[in-house]
Amino acid sequence: MTLSQNDQKKLLAVKAASFVEYGMLLGLGTGSTVDIFISTLGEKFGSLKDLEIVPTSLDSAHKASKLGIKVLEPKMDLKPDLLIDGADEVASDLSMIKGGGGALLWEKIVAQNSKKRIYMADSTKLVRELGHFLLPIEVVLFGHEWTHNDLKKTFSFVSIRRTVAGEIFKTNSGNVIYDCQITDGIEIGVLDTDLCQIPGVITSGLFYDFIDVLLTVQNENIIEICEPKDVFW
Ligand code: A5P
Repeated sequence: MTLSQNDQKKLLAVKAASFVEYGMLLGLGTGSTVDIFISTLGEKFGSLKDLEIVPTSLDSAHKASKLGIKVLEPKMDLKPDLLIDGADEVASDLSMIKGGGGALLWEKIVAQNSKKRIYMADSTKLVRELGHFLLPIEVVLFGHEWTHNDLKKTFSFVSIRRTVAGEIFKTNSGNVIYDCQITDGIEIGVLDTDLCQIPGVITSGLFYDFIDVLLTVQNENIIEICEPKDVFW
């Protein structure tokens, strides 16, 4: 029997919660797997009022503070001991796409400044090479249509993200997102650096070399992956 995606997320959330200890400052990711993780923390610790987090989105900040978790602003001498976050797609070289929920920029800033980074990815997210999921790119609102033209030089398909109501989606920093198709021939290792040469680009949802531990599921078992040599897909 294979587990449903939601059951896998529950399993991943419980495992991720086992890494959390009282007194830690937690970087809190964004997304549905993280939402389950937050409730799992409640089951593990009972009261959450002594827990402190740095959020990766206003949504996570809101959900955490509703549960009584203390939400802290990023500060110079405040580095999260542990980041727990989800993923949209993870390739066999452990490069990853994030930002399906639009939180890529804050997620990357918190990840960059966390001492250890654990990502949860159910088996539907595992791919040989990135590119099934469109790569989100966060772009400054000013001149974004010109930036769109620049992005079209690299990607075969580029589309501005909209809300369900059809409005242009805005990130927590007031920027827009272009979802882009990665195609053969694009060199993933230098893609982020190349994209950041375009003046309007802030960052992309490509997370290269960010994973310290990947938690995933194989045959109903949780697997911990720390290096590409451990990859089974
Ligand atoms: C948020 O912008 C994303 O990076 C999420 O972390 C990612 O989309 C995973 O979300 P789910 O846990 O909902 O699949």
